[in-house]
Amino acid sequence: MNHLKYDGGTGNLKNWLIQESSFDSRFLGKCEAIFAQGNGYMGVRNALEESYPGEVRNTFVAGTFNKASAEEVTELPNVPDMTGMTILIGGHVFNLMQGELSAYTRTMNLKNGETVREVRWKSPGGVYTAAVFKRIVSLADEHIIAAALDLMVDKDVQIVIETGIDGTVTNSGAQHFKDLKRRVYDGRDMQYLSRTTESDVWVAQHAACSLNLQADILPVMERRTLKNRYTFMAKAGQNIHFEKISAIHTSRDLEYEDAKTEGIEEKLMADGLKSLRESNSKGYQGLKEASALQWEKYWRESGITIDGDTDFEQLAVRFSLYHLNIMAKQDDNRIGIGAKALTGEGYKGHSFWDTELFILPYFTFTRPGAAKSLLEYRYKNLVGARRKAKENGYEGAMYPWECAWVDDGEVTPLYKGADVVTGKVKKVLTGLIEHHISADIAYAVWQYYLMTGDRDFMETCGYEMILDTALFWASRVQYRKETGRYEILDVIGPDEYKEHVDNNAYTNYMANYNMHLALFIMENLLDDNTELSKRLDHKLNLSYIKEKIDSCIDRLYLPGPDKDGIIPQTDEYLHLTKIDITKYKNSEEAKIIYKDFNAEQINGFMVSKQADTVMLMFLFPDLFDEETRRKNFTFYEDKTLHDSSLSKCIHSIMANDLGLTEMAYDFYKRSLMIDLGPQMKSSNEGIHSAAIGGIWESTVMGFGGVRLKGEYLHIAPKLPKKWKKLIFPLCLKGCQLKITAAHQELVVENMGQQESSCVLNGELVSIEPGAVKRIEL
Ligand code: BGC
Repeated sequence: MNHLKYDGGTGNLKNWLIQESSFDSRFLGKCEAIFAQGNGYMGVRNALEESYPGEVRNTFVAGTFNKASAEEVTELPNVPDMTGMTILIGGHVFNLMQGELSAYTRTMNLKNGETVREVRWKSPGGVYTAAVFKRIVSLADEHIIAAALDLMVDKDVQIVIETGIDGTVTNSGAQHFKDLKRRVYDGRDMQYLSRTTESDVWVAQHAACSLNLQADILPVMERRTLKNRYTFMAKAGQNIHFEKISAIHTSRDLEYEDAKTEGIEEKLMADGLKSLRESNSKGYQGLKEASALQWEKYWRESGITIDGDTDFEQLAVRFSLYHLNIMAKQDDNRIGIGAKALTGEGYKGHSFWDTELFILPYFTFTRPGAAKSLLEYRYKNLVGARRKAKENGYEGAMYPWECAWVDDGEVTPLYKGADVVTGKVKKVLTGLIEHHISADIAYAVWQYYLMTGDRDFMETCGYEMILDTALFWASRVQYRKETGRYEILDVIGPDEYKEHVDNNAYTNYMANYNMHLALFIMENLLDDNTELSKRLDHKLNLSYIKEKIDSCIDRLYLPGPDKDGIIPQTDEYLHLTKIDITKYKNSEEAKIIYKDFNAEQINGFMVSKQADTVMLMFLFPDLFDEETRRKNFTFYEDKTLHDSSLSKCIHSIMANDLGLTEMAYDFYKRSLMIDLGPQMKSSNEGIHSAAIGGIWESTVMGFGGVRLKGEYLHIAPKLPKKWKKLIFPLCLKGCQLKITAAHQELVVENMGQQESSCVLNGELVSIEPGAVKRIEL
């Protein structure tokens, strides 16, 4: 049974509410993550106000990376906590693991970003307490967190509320901060200044509380904490209203980018205190309304409607759009998106290929400004990518598998947990040999260009990224005398269950694409005499890149279908040992194969973690004929455990492309369950950002049939039987389009200022501004 409830919203809140309908401490982690709040600048897990064993109380500020020790890689530090509260009722700690709990619901309202928790509880001292906790992280002012608490007791009793700024939090034990200054102004406004231990990022936090009753207020300053303690007498039936407004500012914030480091902490403290006081004067309600207005605007612009017998699907798509909106710092090109966004410690806040191939499409197809910023982040990553290429004996730009701060370069950890068979720590090979990311980024750059026509970006960043990654590939391929061709040996492809493989089809085709794209740019888009060509030539040496690519491109091995029509995923794959994987495939829990085998053993089995050759067919729908695609889809799906959250969404899209409608819908429904399903531990380390982007992809690119092919945007929807209509926005070359897809009809409304051309169900059409085009399907 699912602990979470999705049908609690009625009227205009229908399909907007996610609810936790009972208290079960085993679900703390999952709910902390999926109910997490934020605004791209910060992310706050929805840890409950009172503490429980096993809770993970995280607040992250994007980009504030720090290395806790020389042996560890840089990670997003958990800044001092501002969400926790200790409440004593008649001397008893408010904690749901004691006393009697008679009612409990926690609701995430996706429409306005607010969480509300309603509790009825009898304390061990026999005091009936009704409590309502509310919290937002403002979308109107990225520095602000606001919380409110309404309490009512059935007896006259003393109540103590203690809360403030708690610097004892860590990242699973790793302490990232020096505790520097703490102070209380006017007996109310708390100030806590800390600084990361290695990267020297200053963090200024401020908090102020208010209560509607007279109370004794005592500042409490203990080791690494600063709190205010409110002690007061409550009367039976009286409404007690408590608020806490908090502000976070850091020296990494965009507004301080050019500020002098000297004296920055003074500036942060002054600005933080001012911001706190301004926000505090608006109160919880005022702050919530301002934030809700921003949410309203977002939903107006970005909402997707699924019409039909599809309540849960509608809600899940909103869940995905909610998290997509809070995972990216859309105006700051120094910041990427973490694999767990800002909702957990998993993957240390690092960015992977997840961004470019699973998350970025949402931005590229609907919010080009944000997409541009995310790609500029990758442009800035070129520093580390060039360094990595050099260190590994290659040329050009070899993107890090995991990225953190813009110029950090490769930050993939070298080691992870123990091997189930040998007991030794396992080496992480992805940072060393998972190379396809360089081509994935080039692919994303070109998709962005096709969708937006943003030449300016291409000229300042995009061409350079494509050309330098192409040079990397030209230096990475190896000529083998035995086969008389260029090959790519010793890599990990997308399927991470296969290490040290040769000629991973995905990697080889992507490298080939990347190099061809570079040739196309050099031959068609760069005219020798322009300033741009001269600049690029000066920086990269274009004739050298061309020569390098020309020397290998025609003889690069691109694995084609064998006699049975199967494209070998790698040179080894089709010779691996077949095992019965039914048990693992049927399990809702991911990666249980590791309970029986270690990585080395799994490497020898014909079993895959995620879409690999299937991913290739998704990215290049016209690379193989339909029969080959169908054969390969069936062959590889049969061997895939979908143990990565990046797998099901792609399988849904591919199945739909191939007319396997039921299967596509089944994969779709399963992909919605990655974070929202009953698996209580699945999101403990944070939500799965790529799977969340994958929900958008499988909705819009899958059922909505949206794809960039050649130079055109194609739309050819194929909806699941249960859906009547799918309505979604797109932004094509600056033109806002509203797409309404049904089973028999496709309607595209051009809401922009210029004519827009796209291919609707195979037919090239031009749509005038303000016009509506209808196509029968
Ligand atoms: C997947 C990768 C992914 C990473 C981060 C791994 O489990 O296999 O494809 O990039 O998680 O989400």
